[in-house]
Amino acid sequence: MTTGPASLHGAGLGLRRAFVRALLDTPPAAVEFYEIAPENWIGMGGANARRLRALTERHPFVCHGLSLSLGGPAPLDLELVRAIGDFLDVHGIAIYSEHLSYCSDDGQLYDLLPIPFTEAAIAHVVARIGQVQDLLGRRIAVENVSYYAAPGQEMTELDFIDAVLERADCELLLDVNNLHVNAVNHGYDALDFLRALPGERIRYGHVAGHREVSPELCIDTHGSAVIDPVWSLLAAAYEHFGVFPTLLERDFDIPPLAQLVEEVEQIALIQHRALPEQRAHG
Ligand SMILES: [Fe+2]
Repeated sequence: MTTGPASLHGAGLGLRRAFVRALLDTPPAAVEFYEIAPENWIGMGGANARRLRALTERHPFVCHGLSLSLGGPAPLDLELVRAIGDFLDVHGIAIYSEHLSYCSDDGQLYDLLPIPFTEAAIAHVVARIGQVQDLLGRRIAVENVSYYAAPGQEMTELDFIDAVLERADCELLLDVNNLHVNAVNHGYDALDFLRALPGERIRYGHVAGHREVSPELCIDTHGSAVIDPVWSLLAAAYEHFGVFPTLLERDFDIPPLAQLVEEVEQIALIQHRALPEQRAHG
């Protein structure tokens, strides 16, 4: 296995291919790690692959999968899991996360559908997470996703997430924006939900922007700046669980890199406020 920078801490940024050259030339000090979707890079050769390797040699990275469809009905794509394992090894990346959801048939990002909150679904997804963890030889992190309908619900989202994490013995990628969006859309208290999560399983976090359609409806777009209630929820998460590595996701209406770096600096500021005497740790 090729090694890369190992420790993960502080504030990070979801890597866009368009930013790679700029990040190689003048890496912003505020960005302490990057996240990439392996599906977007596996099999790529040439200059793009060399530039990515140059970045992964210099900075800690995490991988965030798009299309494994952990909750889906089709057999797991074991070839993809093996390819992801090879990719993690080549780039010296320790952490791999996926969504606690399933993709629609075409496997497109943002067609992520929630797993029904049922006992049968828990058994299904726990077995599949186990398969992935066995193949990759490590624990993976699963992300709480935003959802707009919960058909056939037998239990709360919280009980569902808890059961999956416990039985699969996996880690949590805590998306604070998704938590806020779900709290608005489903009428629950975001702080109560946050505090009930098993904090010891949080591996790292996401923040992102979304679209507020009405006071009762948010759409998780990753297409705008992070809003104040999400920043407040992130601060509350650090206060309750301690500081964990957190990155900014932005997938649409991408502003200039400098503007994204300002939001990464905001993450770092909240981390340092939560931990004034120490360095934010992973
Ligand atoms: Fe996320």
